[in-house]
Amino acid sequence: MNYLLRGIGVLAAVGTISLLAFSLPSGEAHGDGGGDALPRLTHKAWQQECASCHIAYAPAFLPKASWRRVMGGLGQHFGEDASLDPATQADILRFLEINAADAGNSRIGRKVMQRMDAQDAPLRITESRWFVRKHDEVPRATWSRKSVGSAANCAACHRQAEQGVFDDDSVSIPK
Ligand code: HEC
Ligand code: HEC
Repeated sequence: MNYLLRGIGVLAAVGTISLLAFSLPSGEAHGDGGGDALPRLTHKAWQQECASCHIAYAPAFLPKASWRRVMGGLGQHFGEDASLDPATQADILRFLEINAADAGNSRIGRKVMQRMDAQDAPLRITESRWFVRKHDEVPRATWSRKSVGSAANCAACHRQAEQGVFDDDSVSIPK
């Protein structure tokens, strides 16, 4: 009995140590969701106001300066009026800035910034050098297919885009 208990104690200790050993190195990957998956973020106003016409584009896809431009021009937002009351606008901008590509808290953001000049502030994710390069294997004509519409329609090909998953396994270009 004593043996058995001690055995379990040792097993439990070993288990805890190996769990630690496994979880420590993957700590960063975990925060980023692994690979190119994005950190899962929740922000009420952002999800309410920025996900009605398209997916709520992850803040880590653009630098702060881009988000300031986007949020400063909501009255004429890609041909739409997406304006908000000043308090909501400021609240969403703060959230976007805290999690932007150059905020330094996501792996994907670092990748986006590696390909961006310091003074660059594109209005579109799809115009960033990072995006263009990631998609250089997608034929030009594919973007304008009816089933896709535009490069901004991430979810047409990334079936789990809304969950922040963009890995190779979940990509499928519609006919
Ligand atoms: C009334 C509809 C509408 C709302 C609300 C809206 N957008 Fe958009 N947004 C659009 C349209 C239309 C486009 C252009 C899509 C395209 O090119 O196919 C766009 C494009 C974008 C793009 C560029 C996508 C690219 O090409 O990389 C960003 C970034 C963006 N929106 C951010 C936001 C944010 C942030 C909010 C919330 C504050 C928001 N949008 C709310 C309609 C909207
Ligand atoms: C026409 C289909 C299509 C659209 C639309 C599209 N993508 Fe992609 N995307 C792809 C393909 C194909 C790949 C390459 C997958 C691979 O690496 O094998 C890719 C790769 C990626 C990757 C890299 C994944 C990895 O594991 O390396 C990211 C991140 C990504 N896309 C984000 C986006 C975002 C954000 C949008 C919308 C603004 C978008 N994509 C729109 C087809 C698309």
